[in-house]
Amino acid sequence: MMRLREMNLADMDAIMRIEQRVHAHPWTRGNFTDALKSDCVCKVYEAEGAMLGYVVFMPAVDEVQLLNISIAAGQQRKGLGRKLLDETMKIARGMNMRRMLLEVRPSNVAALGLYRDAGFREISLRRGYYPAGSEREDAIVMECVL
Ligand SMILES: CC(C)(COP(=O)(O)OP(=O)(O)OC[C@H]1O[C@@H](n2cnc3c(N)ncnc32)[C@H](O)[C@@H]1OP(=O)(O)O)[C@@H](O)C(=O)NCCC(=O)NCCS
Repeated sequence: MMRLREMNLADMDAIMRIEQRVHAHPWTRGNFTDALKSDCVCKVYEAEGAMLGYVVFMPAVDEVQLLNISIAAGQQRKGLGRKLLDETMKIARGMNMRRMLLEVRPSNVAALGLYRDAGFREISLRRGYYPAGSEREDAIVMECVL
C-alpha cells in the first residue's frame, strides 16, 4: 500500500541517501531542512515503511513551483514518478492553485519525459541557470494548468 505523508526531520538520512544517488546535482540536507521550515509542502512517498521517493513544492498565491521530485534509484521506471506527480497536482488543485511551474535541465531526459507525459509544456528557457561543473546549463521552464 503506497501512501504520501508529511516529510519530517527524521526522514533526512533516508532522503539524503536517495538524493545523492539519483541527482547529478543533489540538494543538501540544509536545502531540505530549509524547505521544511518554509511555506513549502514537503511529502514522502512510501510503501510498507520503505521510502519510494519524495516531493517538495512551493505554493505562492495561485501558482505552485515544483522544486524537487525524486524516486529512489531501484524504484524508477515503474510508474511511481507519474503517480507521485499526479498526487502532487491533486494536492495543489485542492489548495486552489491554478498552475504548476518547474525548471528542468535539458540533460534530464527522464524528468523531461515525465513532465511531458503528465501534460506540462515548455514556456521558456533560462540561459545558464544551473551550475554544471565549471560551466552553466540552461533551464527549461515548463507549466501545467491544474
Ligand atoms: C524523473 C523521475 C522522478 C521519474 O520517475 P520514474 O518513477 O522513474 O518515472 P515513471 O516510471 O513514472 O515514468 C513516467 C514517464 O516518464 C518518462 N521517463 C521516466 N524515466 C525515463 C527515462 N529514464 N528516460 C526517458 N523517459 C523517462 C517516460 O515518459 C515515462 O513513461 P513510460 O514509462 O510510459 O515511458 C526519476 O527518474 C527520478 O527520480 N530522477 C532523478 C531525480 C530528478 O531528476 N527529478 C526531477 C528534477 S527535480
